[in-house]
Amino acid sequence: MLNRDQSDARSRAGASETALTAAAARAAHLIVDDEPWIFTDTLAATLLGERADELIDYHRANGDHPVLVGARTQVAVRGRYTEDRVAAAVERGVDQYVILGAGLDSFAYRSALAPRVRVFEVDHPATQLWKQQRLSTAGIAPLGDVAYVPVNFEHDSLANCLVRAGFDLTRPAVVSWLGVTVYLSRAAISETLGVVGTFAPGSELVVEYIVPDRLRDADGRTYAELVAPFAAERGEPWLTVLTPAEMSALLADHGFGSVEHVRQEDAIDAGLWDRKDALHPADLALFARATR
Ligand SMILES: C[S@@+](CC[C@H](N)C(=O)[O-])C[C@H]1O[C@@H](n2cnc3c(N)ncnc32)[C@H](O)[C@@H]1O
Repeated sequence: MLNRDQSDARSRAGASETALTAAAARAAHLIVDDEPWIFTDTLAATLLGERADELIDYHRANGDHPVLVGARTQVAVRGRYTEDRVAAAVERGVDQYVILGAGLDSFAYRSALAPRVRVFEVDHPATQLWKQQRLSTAGIAPLGDVAYVPVNFEHDSLANCLVRAGFDLTRPAVVSWLGVTVYLSRAAISETLGVVGTFAPGSELVVEYIVPDRLRDADGRTYAELVAPFAAERGEPWLTVLTPAEMSALLADHGFGSVEHVRQEDAIDAGLWDRKDALHPADLALFARATR
């Protein structure tokens, strides 16, 4: 775990800049890329508010830049893959969805499935406050039941915060943790997996993680070389990369029986890669899908 000073140096007065750039990439996917879109986040631009033009304009002006192509591919694939898993979980009766490090995730305000699940948006308090203010200013209301759970993964007890917010530990949940683990210490990742590992049998976790340099392809390497220093300058350094074997071991330590590691290329229907735009899969971020 990071000590308070290290973590507070990284804590922001406002929203996480990477949460905003992820939302900008989702918004830009609908503007810069061709149909069929991989993931349709119709609220991302609105949620960005006065930052929308500036952040989406990078994509409009330099849509083929490897960093921007990589960012749009990453957020579109993780959104599609995860919401497909959430849909399958809802169909089998799961009615709690925990979004760890939610950022500007818009599932609760956009998805037809939102009224069928209680959503728990867990995020760093500064980012969550910024989002709540934006939702209020933009007049965006949840389609179902949403609980906001401010948590710093480096310090706070996720279990206590979730239970205080009404999470039912006796009922299964589907959990997503997208674009977050790389910003955390290994101890905080382990601690959080320890909590999710106590969720009721039938629970499912989708966690995205960044692999070490030797497991990246050329596109993944270029993206990491350009983006990691930029993120660090803005107070969100990349702290933890994991091999699939390390992630499997962490998950097994915390009671997950079955684990599948999924590459970007395999995370969506193969037909969606038959594209005329610049989007293409890379090896940098993998998804671990684990069940209790
Ligand atoms: C790249 S954004 C991803 C947001 C969202 N999951 C998405 O896919 O768009 C990283 C998120 O991790 C959150 N985060 C980073 N460090 C955190 C910490 N120590 N505690 C809680 N949240 C944290 C940030 O607030 C931000 O919302």
